[in-house]
Amino acid sequence: MKLFDVYPLWNIEPVKGEGCHIWDKEGNEYIDLYGGHAVISIGHCHPTYCSMLKEQTDKLGFYSNAVQNGLQKELAEKLGQVCGYPDYDLFLCNSGAEANENAFKLASFHTGRKRILAIGKAFHGRTSGAVEATDNPKIQAEFNKNKNVTFVPLNDLEAAVKELATEQYAALIIEGIQGVAGIFVPDSDYLKGLRKACTESGTILILDEIQSGYGRTGKFFAHQHSGIEADIITTAKGIGNGFPMAGVIISPKIKAVYGMLGTTFGGNHLACTAALAVLKVMQDENLMENATAIGEYLIEKLQGNRAIKELRGKGLMIGIELNEGFSDLRNRLLFEKHIFTGGAGANVIRLLPPLCITKEIADKFIEAFNELSNI
Ligand SMILES: Cc1ncc(COP(=O)(O)O)c(C=O)c1O
Repeated sequence: MKLFDVYPLWNIEPVKGEGCHIWDKEGNEYIDLYGGHAVISIGHCHPTYCSMLKEQTDKLGFYSNAVQNGLQKELAEKLGQVCGYPDYDLFLCNSGAEANENAFKLASFHTGRKRILAIGKAFHGRTSGAVEATDNPKIQAEFNKNKNVTFVPLNDLEAAVKELATEQYAALIIEGIQGVAGIFVPDSDYLKGLRKACTESGTILILDEIQSGYGRTGKFFAHQHSGIEADIITTAKGIGNGFPMAGVIISPKIKAVYGMLGTTFGGNHLACTAALAVLKVMQDENLMENATAIGEYLIEKLQGNRAIKELRGKGLMIGIELNEGFSDLRNRLLFEKHIFTGGAGANVIRLLPPLCITKEIADKFIEAFNELSNI
């Protein structure tokens, strides 16, 4: 058997990680400003994370959701406090797409409606409903084109309000900050307007914080910069620092029905331990504050570079849109400077580093970026 060929692969194979660094098979060291796609929140192989996981592995790795699981309860309690939604409920599952599927199902069940309003250029995952709400027909099959989703442009409040007023939508889903599209931030007033229009039309407001959440932007969830409250928040990636896991955070106005949601693996003992370790380290090491400080530092230092057309983002979710002629920069950063960054299309570099990134590491990136863009 060979692997199903779905990913265009970079020619490196990381075999070891520590903090903001990874090493390949040959022992070459790289600075990781990609974080495995915004997944590595507290840093690779953090000692607290590793020891908590090892200890739990020796006790009990898994048991089914048919029995009590104190770790799930502890996680719900702690996450509720830390993320600012203490009265909401938590449903644990395994991936971002699965979290969004469950959010749609809950919204549809609660409202009795079936349509979803989504935002142009959105990415919500590759499973059935999530991919239908993803604005990229190339990754949808006929099976996914049920025409249950309408798209309106980001930051166009009038278009969204007009659709919502028809009262046919179970939910509006929006990313806290659009990631895959190339880092586009919803305006604060726009989010406030969406919140109001959702309330007035009886539509569930779902914030997809799968990439923008978990402290990355300096608040626990990116939408909290606007002071709005969501009805449902979906989270994944940073929650487990690499342990596959996701969560749906649900307003108390949405009531549970036995059997409606379920999963074999979601919230298993190892996953919950990973998530508890992440929250502990985030708090012990003030990683949200660090995300704000280093994010602002990076933006300040990158201003004015001739390779840059536009800088976008918040905290450690930064999009660098490149001017024409500089689209090879990401490649050169990796292979000439051993700095791994994310991308979005040919012309946007995405910085999604572990939240423990230091000023010294940021300086190394700035130095390399300046050197390569001045040639
Ligand atoms: C905003 C957003 N939503 C959903 C997903 C899908 O998450 P997963 O790949 O864990 O299914 C992603 C993944 O990149 C994402 O960025």
